[in-house]
Amino acid sequence: MNQKLENAKKHFEAIITEQLERIERLKNEGERVDYTKKEHIVIGVVGGDGIGPTITEHAKHVLSILLKEDIDKGRIELRTIEGLTIENRAEKNQAIPDDVLSELKQCDVLLKGPTTTPREGDPWPNIESANVAMRKELDLFANVRPVKVKELDIDWTFFRENTEGGYAVGSKGLHFNDDLAIDFTIATKQGSYRIIKEAFEYARKMGKKRVTVVTKANVIKTTDGKFLEIAKEIHKDYPEIEMDDWYIDIMTAKLIDEKRRSQFEVMVLPNLYGDILTDEAAEFQGGVGTAGSANIGARYAMFEAIHGSAPRMVEEGRAIYADPGSVIRAAGMLLEHIGYVEESKKLQMALEICNTLEKKVVLTGRDTGATGEAYVAYLLETLNDPNLSENYLAFLKH
Ligand code: IPM
Ligand code: MG
Repeated sequence: MNQKLENAKKHFEAIITEQLERIERLKNEGERVDYTKKEHIVIGVVGGDGIGPTITEHAKHVLSILLKEDIDKGRIELRTIEGLTIENRAEKNQAIPDDVLSELKQCDVLLKGPTTTPREGDPWPNIESANVAMRKELDLFANVRPVKVKELDIDWTFFRENTEGGYAVGSKGLHFNDDLAIDFTIATKQGSYRIIKEAFEYARKMGKKRVTVVTKANVIKTTDGKFLEIAKEIHKDYPEIEMDDWYIDIMTAKLIDEKRRSQFEVMVLPNLYGDILTDEAAEFQGGVGTAGSANIGARYAMFEAIHGSAPRMVEEGRAIYADPGSVIRAAGMLLEHIGYVEESKKLQMALEICNTLEKKVVLTGRDTGATGEAYVAYLLETLNDPNLSENYLAFLKH
C-alpha cells in the first residue's frame, strides 16, 4: 500500500511538472503567423485510416483545382504525408511516429482525414488518439466548428478548447489498484485565456452580439470554475457583446429548443463539452459527416472532418461511396485561413448548392447512392460554372 501511495504521488508530481513546463511554453508563445504574408505555403495532406485516404484524396483534388494558379507559380505546395495509419502507429507504439511528426512540422497547415482511435480490446495497443496528440504536439488550441442551417435559423460557431481539460492527460490516468481509477482534468490560466479571447475576438470581428460560455462550474468547481472566472474577466474588454453562462447539461437540451436555439451565436467551452456539443450541433446540419473543423494554433493549423474513420465501410467495400463533404468543407476553412477567401467562398457556395439546394447527386454511403467521385465531379462542375454566384442567389430566392 505504502509503495502504491508513493508511486501515485510521483505520478501526480510528474503531471504537475509537465503542466508547469507547458505553461512556461504558453507564456512564451510566438506571434500568430500571418499566412497571407507568407511567400511559400506547404499544405500537408494526411490520409489517415479507413475511408480517410479516399475522401482526403477527393478534397486534395478540389484544392489542387482551386489553387492551381498559385501551385503552378510555386507559392503553394500540396504535400502528401504518409504513415499516420493505425498500422504504423501500432507498430511504433506511438500516437504519432517521430518521423511522421517531423514531416508534419515541416508543413504550415494540414488537411487531415479521420484516424482510428484505439481503445481497450482493439487489436492495437491502447495508444493515445492521433488527433489528440496532434492538437497537443502542434499546440492547436482552438477547435473552431461552425454549424449553419438556414431553414432553422441556426448559425453557430463553437470554440472548443483543444489542448486541455480531460484530454490533456487523458492517457495518463492513474490505476491506483483494482478498485480505484483516477483521471485528471486540466485548466490553465493561459490555456483558458487564449481560447476565450479567440471566441470574443471572433464575435467582435463578425459583429456577433453574444458569446455563450458553457461549463459545469457548479460541480466541476476547480477547473470549470477557473474557465468561467477567466471568461468573466475577458468579457470586461468587450462591453458591446453580451456574455451568458450555461451548464453543459441544459445547453445540450437548449440546442433542441426551437424557441431558444437561434439565439446562440458563438459558444466557447472546455474540451470534452466541446467534443460532445459539436456532434449534437452537427446533427442539425445533416450529421457529423457534413461538418468540417479547424484546429488553430499560433504557428500551425490543421483542418479535418469531425467524423470517424468508418472501418466498416472499407471492410464492406463501400469506401468509394463515402461522403467527402466534411473534409472538403474542412478544405474550405483551410483556404480561408491561409488567405484564399474568395476561393473559400466559392467552394462554400458550390457545397451549399450541391448539398442542400440542388442535390443532383446524392450520397447514401452505399451503392444506393452516388460515389464520392461522382459527387466531386458534380461539385467541380458547379464550382467552375462562371455563373456560380448568380446560380447561388437564384437558388436562395426559390
Ligand atoms: C473529434 C473526435 C476526436 C475527439 C476523437 C477522434 C479523439 O471525436 O474531433 O471530435 O474526441 O476530439
Ligand atoms: Mg468528437
